Amino acid sequence: MLNIEDFDIKLCTDVLGRNFIYTEEIESTNKALLNSTEFDKDGTVLLAEYQTAGKGRKSRVWYSNSGQNLTFSTLLKKDFKENELNIINLGAALSVAVALENLYQLNTNLKWPNDVLINERKIAGILIETTVSGSKIDKAVIGIGINVNQHAFANSTEYHLPPTSVKNEFGKDVSRERILSEVLNNFEDILRRIETEPQKVLADWKSRSRFLGENIKIVEDGVTKFGKFADLDENGFLVLQQGDETETIHFGDVSSR
Ligand code: BTN
Repeated sequence: MLNIEDFDIKLCTDVLGRNFIYTEEIESTNKALLNSTEFDKDGTVLLAEYQTAGKGRKSRVWYSNSGQNLTFSTLLKKDFKENELNIINLGAALSVAVALENLYQLNTNLKWPNDVLINERKIAGILIETTVSGSKIDKAVIGIGINVNQHAFANSTEYHLPPTSVKNEFGKDVSRERILSEVLNNFEDILRRIETEPQKVLADWKSRSRFLGENIKIVEDGVTKFGKFADLDENGFLVLQQGDETETIHFGDVSSR
C-alpha cells in the first residue's frame, strides 16, 4: 500500500498532485479521469494499485502487478496551444527519466514518442488522452506507468518492448512514494518550461534520445518507412531524412533499422 504521507512530504508542487486520489483497483486511471465529472480539478492525480484494463498506446494493454509499481494519471485543464500536448507527452517521459537519474543514478534513454528505456528495455510509458468540447481540447489526461519493484515479467509476447523495472536495474527495492513525488515535481517544472522555453525542453529530451541521428524503421498503421532520425521539429515531431528529402512524422513505432 502506498504511504501517502511519505509521498506528500517530498511533493514540492503548487498544483500537480495537490488533489490526490488513491484507489486499490480500477479499470484504468486514464479512463476514470477522462470520464469523471467529479474529479475535474487541474493537477488532480489518480493512482491505482491495480488496473484491470490498463491501457497502453495503440490499444495495447499495460500490464503491471498490483502494489509493486506506479500507475497513475494526471489531469491537466488549460487552454492548450496547438501541438502543445505533443511536447507535454515528451515532457512527461522526460520527467520520469530525470527522476530515475536523480534518485538512483540510472542511465535512461527516451524512445520517441513516449517510452523511457534503460539498457534497451522499457521501464515506463506515457499515454495522453483528451476530451474535446466544440473545437477545443477540454481536458488532457496524462497517464504514466512506471515499473518500480516488479522483479519478474511474464515471458509474454504481449510486451511490445522487453520490460524492466527500477528494482531490476538498481538492484533492490526502492520507494514508490519517492519516485512519485519526484516525477510530479519534475513534471510541474517541465510544464512551466514548456510554456516559456519549449525548445530547451526538447533539447533536454534530445540529449537522452535513443536513435536520434541513427537510421531507423518507423511503422504506423501498417506502413513502414526507413530513414535517418534527423531531428525533432519545434513541435516535437520526428524529422525523418530520406536522402535529400525530409518528412515530418507525427505517430509511429520506431526501431533500429
Ligand atoms: C505505453 O507505453 O503504451 C503507455 C502506457 C501508459 C500506462 C499508464 S498506467 C496509468 C495510465 N492508465 C492507463 O490505463 N494507462 C496509463
